[in-house]
Amino acid sequence: MKDRKRILITGAAGFLGSHLCDRFVKEDFYVIAMDNLITGRLKNIEHLFPLENFEFYHHDVTKFIHIPGKLDYILHFASPASPIDYLKIPIQTLKVGSLGIHNCLGLAKAKNATLMIASTSEVYGDPQIHPQTEDYWGHVNPIGPRGVYDEAKRFQEAMVMAYHNFHGLETRIVRIFNTYGPRMRLNDGRVLPAFIGQALRGEDLTIFGDGMQTRSFCYVDDLVEGIFRLLHTNYYLPVNIGNPDEITIKDFAEEIIKLTGTSQKIVYRPLPENDPKQRQPDITKARELLGWEPKVSRAEGLKKTLAYFKSLSPDELKEIDHYNFDKYIIK
Ligand SMILES: NC(=O)c1ccc[n+]([C@@H]2O[C@H](COP(=O)([O-])OP(=O)(O)OC[C@H]3O[C@@H](n4cnc5c(N)ncnc54)[C@H](O)[C@@H]3O)[C@@H](O)[C@H]2O)c1
Repeated sequence: MKDRKRILITGAAGFLGSHLCDRFVKEDFYVIAMDNLITGRLKNIEHLFPLENFEFYHHDVTKFIHIPGKLDYILHFASPASPIDYLKIPIQTLKVGSLGIHNCLGLAKAKNATLMIASTSEVYGDPQIHPQTEDYWGHVNPIGPRGVYDEAKRFQEAMVMAYHNFHGLETRIVRIFNTYGPRMRLNDGRVLPAFIGQALRGEDLTIFGDGMQTRSFCYVDDLVEGIFRLLHTNYYLPVNIGNPDEITIKDFAEEIIKLTGTSQKIVYRPLPENDPKQRQPDITKARELLGWEPKVSRAEGLKKTLAYFKSLSPDELKEIDHYNFDKYIIK
């Protein structure tokens, strides 16, 4: 039997996890994909099932994880990731970021594996410096509506650093900024799929606030490349991966209207509490350390993303947006 590198990817049936599975399978790793399907879909990884270097565990990472055999890497990506998700399932979000990472770290220690966590730009909260460098400590409200997600991710970073410092575990922290691409859900509450969904359904595009807040969007292939390179360094401090190309939400809405050819208008609604006004990664570290920078322009990435959504049947579109959280919530 071939001596392949073995990697466990948690959150494998989600948007990012499924693209990571694709990449590591292609690089000839043996991929062990794990997911409890709370926000992910088997459809995202179903094409990998016939492959001999892929297997799927339907498992909740907040419960003890047993993986037979050797393990070289663990990517802990399981977590509700969009505001709609983590507001609906706040306790699961805190658990996957605390009990989940503890289980993964225990496993990494037992197997002597390198562990990477999916951290986030949300650790910077509503930032007071722009763009955000990795040494900025953030401006987070722990009891605000986003606290469950932001603090879970900050706790994960602290846990990972503790295992690195105390047990000498090989660890990586990637701070991911807004990423988009095929397999996102249209109703996950993030602005990019929300606009595409509204345009495809022929609805007006909703802007919260005056539209002058800015965002930057990284295409998923660029992110996966950054993650792949970071995993293969020995750098254990956080690294921002994102696209610094900033755009106001108003200009972005106009771009989507033009791209989709919709005749809809823009409508304005009040801004939700703690909505960040600006988000832009400083990617100097990724450039210097990994020789990485985003390659896919917004125009090209949006075209690919739109093509994906257009390729889905109305039933599939409905299925993507279907939630059944009740099944998972123990009251
Ligand atoms: N998409 C982004 O722009 C972005 C930005 C920053 C950070 N991240 C991080 O990247 C990771 C993936 O995000 P995504 O956008 O792919 O979200 P996603 O919701 O599509 O994927 C998350 C996956 O984790 C699974 N999951 C959740 N709790 C679990 C548990 N207890 N046990 C097993 N599986 C569980 C879900 O079923 C889902 O398949 C998350 O950790 C998220 O915080 C994403």
